[in-house]
Amino acid sequence: MKELFTIDTKDYNPEGRVHRRPSARAIIEKDGRFLVMYSQKYRYYKFPGGGIEAGETPQEALVREVREESGYEVIPGTIEEFGSVLRRNRDAHDSDAIFEQENYYYYAEIGGSRVQITQEDYEIEEGFVPMWVDNLYALSRANRGSLRSGGDPALIEREMRVFDLADEAVRARDFARDEAAAIAALGDEDYAGMLAFVRSVLEDHQTEGGRGANKLEFGYSRFEHTKRVLGWAKRLYEATPDKTGIRYADLMIATVFHDVGRGVDSPMGHAKAGVPITRDYLRSRGFEERRTEYICALVGEHSDKFRMADPNIDRTLLMLMEADCLDDMGALGLVMDTLIVRGRKENATFYDCYNHYCRYTVPMQKECPMVTPEGKAFWDEKTEIAERFVSLIRRDISLFD
Ligand SMILES: [Fe+2]
Ligand SMILES: [Fe+2]
Repeated sequence: MKELFTIDTKDYNPEGRVHRRPSARAIIEKDGRFLVMYSQKYRYYKFPGGGIEAGETPQEALVREVREESGYEVIPGTIEEFGSVLRRNRDAHDSDAIFEQENYYYYAEIGGSRVQITQEDYEIEEGFVPMWVDNLYALSRANRGSLRSGGDPALIEREMRVFDLADEAVRARDFARDEAAAIAALGDEDYAGMLAFVRSVLEDHQTEGGRGANKLEFGYSRFEHTKRVLGWAKRLYEATPDKTGIRYADLMIATVFHDVGRGVDSPMGHAKAGVPITRDYLRSRGFEERRTEYICALVGEHSDKFRMADPNIDRTLLMLMEADCLDDMGALGLVMDTLIVRGRKENATFYDCYNHYCRYTVPMQKECPMVTPEGKAFWDEKTEIAERFVSLIRRDISLFD
């Protein structure tokens, strides 16, 4: 199991006997809420679970402990590893010994009907009650506030840190699920396969020490940009009432590949450099020649943003360009510019950021390159935050006015 962290108070005799009491703990989610135990006496939270008894597997202990503490039945087939935390401190009952506890955390689901709670004496004494909560991060903060409440500080800290890690993991899992659903909704082509290919080309070269246009600067991932542009291309397409001349599947494929050329060093510029990579991929997947060349033309021409004003521009190409331009704007643009300021100057201050927003972000967001009414509407919606944000920051950093 993945080791999450260790809590070692080093308050024991290192030569002392070691008392081991491994435990199993459950991260149970139902309808977006989590099952936790609240100590009414010391006002902290913990995941349900407890000691693994002799002859028991961790999974068996998990089912039994959750049942005893909360009355809920864990479905054994749903138990999945999350991670383990090692705790080492002086044994409270034997001052010459070391108490060593390996805590195994598992994801699990519950089902069936609820049974009678049968808590142990110390649990009754602490006033443990089961509770459903919707925010693990809030529990981590609550535990921080209860570290000196008189309860076991190592336990409260342990749960506090696991709440944070579980919160992060759950968010990342939900994001990955949404992303997979979004990709599946794109259509019949193997978009997941194309994205995996583009990711491998981009990320192989995108390192902090990388060269050329694809150098990883300011935490800007070209692959993440690609996925976001895909989202904007889809939104633009759906928002456009007259879809004449827009080839949706080709737009999606060209969007996936549009910046793949950033993964290679080439004097041609990244758009043109992406053409042979796109062509090889599509040919190898049996795409018809004319379609392959059309998609390659979209990729090769996408960065010539002056062409957006051309009234005869291909509508699919225009949509790709608009989607590409929309990504870096608005709230995301403000975060990106903050990262850029920080990347250029290690000791950058709030004032440096504010200055950059005034000189660069706001003027750039005012210069709308969008051509279609749908693109303009998205642009305005996205960028309206910039000016307001900057005026608020100005007030925050000004002494008087
Ligand atoms: Fe590009
Ligand atoms: Fe791009």
